[in-house]
Parts: sequence; structure tokens; C-alpha cells
Amino acid sequence: MQNPLTHVAIIMDGNGRWAQRNGLMRLKGHEKGARVAKDITKAVKARNIKYLTLYAFSSENWKRPKDEVEGLFRLLERFIETEIQELKDNGVKLRVIGDLDKFNSRLRQKIYYSIVETSGNRDLVLSIALNYGGRDEIIRATKKIIMESIPPEEINEKSFPDFLDTSDIPDPDLLIRTGGEKRISNFLLWQLAYTEIYFTDVLWPEFNEQELDNAINWFSGRQRRFGMTSEQVIE
Ligand code: IPE
Ligand code: IPE
Ligand code: MG
Repeated sequence: MQNPLTHVAIIMDGNGRWAQRNGLMRLKGHEKGARVAKDITKAVKARNIKYLTLYAFSSENWKRPKDEVEGLFRLLERFIETEIQELKDNGVKLRVIGDLDKFNSRLRQKIYYSIVETSGNRDLVLSIALNYGGRDEIIRATKKIIMESIPPEEINEKSFPDFLDTSDIPDPDLLIRTGGEKRISNFLLWQLAYTEIYFTDVLWPEFNEQELDNAINWFSGRQRRFGMTSEQVIE
């Protein structure tokens, strides 16, 4: 039987190297990467996958040169402005995970507006990870639990995820990391516990529908055991 594929998460890595290899400024790589993100969102929806989560800016990416960080946020703002109508028309519900408190109020307003505008959509839930760090998310969740005075006996593996940014979103079935690195880089630390992880050397600006299908085909051949034996899974 084929593995059900409900949620794909992607670490979109390699924009900078792609730009450098093509004699371009790093920001050009991010611009191309944003276009690829748009195309892949459509392709994921066309494959009837219900959840897509894209890692766009990590809590560690602030360490990059100021120019690059500013350029990335300009790009993000433009992306929200130009894409909102298309997301709306295409049944895509936008969500943002990460700590938005660090953003200026104008950008926050734009993000909240886009979330509200698309909140009635049902075809695909697109979560964009912005100023996102898995450790930071777990710490923020813990603080919420303390603030709400939840008794310890009510905290368990089923209730804890309600306090994470991804509450209501199933754990990813498949994580794709482009750009050749084999690490998680602080993405979805809690949620990836049993996710199948696909690494490819393809740089994100060169990722396309064919590469997506390669990842999906690889995923469909995995045996997901969740701690059981092969025999138990086949039964
Ligand atoms: C990923 O591409 C995009 C972000 C982290 C914003 P990189 O910018 O990390 O590209 P490389 O890894 O330097 O090639
Ligand atoms: C991970 O890529 C973050 C995003 C894709 C947004 P990085 O390029 O920041 O990761 P490291 O630094 O190589 O681990
Ligand atoms: Mg990188």
C-alpha cells in the first residue's frame, strides 16, 4: 500500500550558492527562490497534498549581513502583496509559524491581513516559517503552558503540540532539504520525530516539479514502522 502523503515540509536551501555560481548577488538567488516557492506551492496543491510548510527564514538567519536580511524582508513583503490574491483565488490558506514579535508592525499587519483574507480556504494549508527556530518554538510553548497555569498531569504528548505554532497541523510525512546539507538546522524539532527525510544536492532555485516527484516517489517506497517490526507493519 502507498504511504499517505498529507504534509510536505521543505528546507529551501542553496539560494546563495546558486547565485554565486551564476555570478549574481545572493539576493538574486533569493528572488529566484521565491519564484520556485510559488511554483512548488501550485505543484503540491495539484498533487492533492493538503499541507505544505516552507522554511523561509530561521531564527539564526538574523546573523547574516544586514543587507541580505533587509533584502530578504523586502522580498517577503513584496511576495505577500503580489501573491495574496492568487492564494485567495486558488484555495490556499496561509499560515505563519515562528516568532513574529521581532518584525516591525507594518510587516506584521500585512501578514495578519493575508492570514485573515485566506482563512476560509481549504484546498491547501501553506505555512511559512519566519523567524522560526524549533528550540525557540518549544520554549515559547512551555511559557504559554506556564502562563495558562496548566496542571502538570494535563501535559502529555497529545496535549503539548496544542501549544506549538503548528497546532492543528499534522506532523510532516516528508521533509525535503535541497542544497546538499544533511542537517535539520533547527526546523520543526518536535514535529519531525517520525518524518521521512529526503536530501537532494539540487539547489533550491533549480528545484522543480520533476524533483518534487522524485522526492514523492522515494517517499512512497519507504516503510514507515513507527517503532514496530516490519512484520507488524505488513500485517
Ligand atoms: C536558503 O538559501 C534561504 C535562506 C536561508 C533564507 P541560503 O541563502 O542559505 O543559500 P546557501 O546555503 O548560502 O547556498
Ligand atoms: C536553513 O538554511 C534555513 C532556511 C532554509 C530558511 P541555512 O542555510 O540557514 O542553514 P545552515 O546555516 O546551513 O544550517
Ligand atoms: Mg544555506
